[in-house]
Amino acid sequence: MSDADQTRPAPAETARGPVIEIRGLHKAYGQLEVLKGVSLTAPRGHVISLIGSSGSGKSTLLRCCNLLEDSQQGEILFEGEPVKWRGTGMARAPADRAQVTRLRTNLSMVFQQFNLWSHLTILQNVMEAPVQVLRRNPAEVEARARALLAKVGIGDKADAWPAQLSGGQQQRAAIARALCMEPKALLLDEPTSALDPELQQEVVKVIKDLAGEHRTMLLVTHDMRLAADVSDHVVFLHQGRIEEEGAPAQLFGAPRSDRLRQFLSATMAE
Ligand SMILES: Nc1ncnc2c1ncn2[C@@H]1O[C@H](COP(=O)(O)OP(=O)(O)O)[C@@H](O)[C@H]1O
Ligand SMILES: [Mg+2]
Repeated sequence: MSDADQTRPAPAETARGPVIEIRGLHKAYGQLEVLKGVSLTAPRGHVISLIGSSGSGKSTLLRCCNLLEDSQQGEILFEGEPVKWRGTGMARAPADRAQVTRLRTNLSMVFQQFNLWSHLTILQNVMEAPVQVLRRNPAEVEARARALLAKVGIGDKADAWPAQLSGGQQQRAAIARALCMEPKALLLDEPTSALDPELQQEVVKVIKDLAGEHRTMLLVTHDMRLAADVSDHVVFLHQGRIEEEGAPAQLFGAPRSDRLRQFLSATMAE
């Protein structure tokens, strides 16, 4: 088998299309237009990073992807399947509950503030959704959960409470929890921003490992080095529009727009 054959996806995979595709998405909170026609594609196995100033709409875009937020116009496709809507404009909402659940359980989210359950141990946190939501076999989920905790370097913390862990360890537990759902993509919203610099690196390492395994990820980050290192494609959002996008070498090495140049010099100066 040639190298080309090995890297080409099987026909069944291609048929399903990108994991996530967003076409011309518009989203407003009341009078405030937050997304003004954003289009984005996350092909299987790719890491797409979203960068931009605070308030540019990055979190909103992630939350629209897994339907935590409604949107008023534009399409969202999961593995080529368009989200079904009822109503239009401000009254638009997903029409098919089963579809929403399927999409949400396939796009696991990792938040800046970890959001672990404080009354559950680390192991219970990781097992909770696969057992309670997906009704998977607890023994199998436990084996997978323990393996994932070991993979993110906290195999010895399974029986600890979240409050007993450092922020970096809690965030790695949150990533293990997201992975235990066996999602088609991970959506990470500033996963390192709440951490002290020395703890950020342990989370960065986990994200780099996942990128190396060709996990599909949508990554919102302030860490330009991380975005440059792991991304296949970088999207710069400015006031709810894509101002510039491209390969990391292009975006960081030869930014074209003034706004991106300004943003990068401001971020690098931090
Ligand atoms: N639930 C909400 N209600 C009203 N306005 C919101 C809400 N969430 C976010 N916004 C506003 O939407 C804009 C984009 O926010 P956000 O997507 O969080 O940006 P970012 O993640 O890029 O910092 C901001 O002006 C923010 O104040
Ligand atoms: Mg945000």
